Amino acid sequence: MDSTLQDGFGRSVDYLRMSVTDRCDFRCVYCMAEDMTFLPRQQVLRLDELYRLAALFVGNGVRKIRLTGGEPLVRKGIVSLCERIAALPGLQELVMTSNGSQLVKMAQPLADAGVRRLNISLDSLDPMRFCAITRNGDLAQVLAGISAAAAAGFARIKLNTVVMQGRNADEVLDLVDYAVNRGLDISFIEEMPLGEVGRSRGESYCSSDWVRERIAQRYSLFDSAEQSGGPARYVRLQGFPESRIGFISPHSHNFCASCNRVRLTVEGRLLLCLGHEHSIDLRALLRRYPETDQPLLSAIHAALLRKPQRHEFSSSGEVQVLRFMNATGG
Ligand code: 5AD
Ligand code: SF4
Repeated sequence: MDSTLQDGFGRSVDYLRMSVTDRCDFRCVYCMAEDMTFLPRQQVLRLDELYRLAALFVGNGVRKIRLTGGEPLVRKGIVSLCERIAALPGLQELVMTSNGSQLVKMAQPLADAGVRRLNISLDSLDPMRFCAITRNGDLAQVLAGISAAAAAGFARIKLNTVVMQGRNADEVLDLVDYAVNRGLDISFIEEMPLGEVGRSRGESYCSSDWVRERIAQRYSLFDSAEQSGGPARYVRLQGFPESRIGFISPHSHNFCASCNRVRLTVEGRLLLCLGHEHSIDLRALLRRYPETDQPLLSAIHAALLRKPQRHEFSSSGEVQVLRFMNATGG
């Protein structure tokens, strides 16, 4: 039987992003509304269900899994889930996106469990601003978490910054300094219009080209041919060979042609594209067929044929997709 996943445009899907919880200890302004209602427990996939799906995808050609949230580290049992997924034969890389708040105690257990790389969100180096953007985050705790991660032996650590005019756009150079002085990567992300977060995003939109020009005021940039298998385009900086600077530009540079990924929401919906609502309910199939994966696999193959060719975000900041990012998985 065919053991790879292909969509209707000939793209192979070998990367799965799994949201393991919709909960988070932060309420970032671009991700959540101030007062969020989280899902009732029975609607969230159990750890054994998450593992079963991971195993099914890896058995059918997925080579990389990213665990996301919400904040994955607030999910109980996350370290043992990581251990089991990392041990799946055929998986090349287990990676995670985290807000950093729990990393002081969790970085080493995660590295030991087989998580190879971490993406850590960092939107400001100013404690007051950081607290405003995350609506309660403690910058010192996150910076200590980043140091703990750097000491824990991950293959790479990448910081993620969502750039917003009026909130942190003037900190781009400081954030680059922070990353390159520690040998970390950093990616600057254009905000995506996911979920109604209670403010207009058009006002704060900041293009990757603007960020790049800003960085060029202090550093010599050279293009890097490297591809991470993701939507980021990378540059390197003269004199800092360890760090890569990435730009993730859902608005200004469409990256759909090389899309190799699907996402699993915490409710077990398989999302074929971040910019579309279409999804299939794998939770229902998991629970209806506890003994056989065949119905799940048929549904996944059929859904992939409906994976859209591209997303359509506009920079006006209008919400086109009603899902919030915390339920979607970054
Ligand atoms: N637009 C762009 N990136 C987002 N993230 C969350 N919400 C959005 C959004 N609306 C990204 C941030 C965060 C990670 C968890 O997901 O980079 O660090
Ligand atoms: Fe939490 Fe990440 Fe969403 Fe911020 S962006 S609220 S850290 S899930």
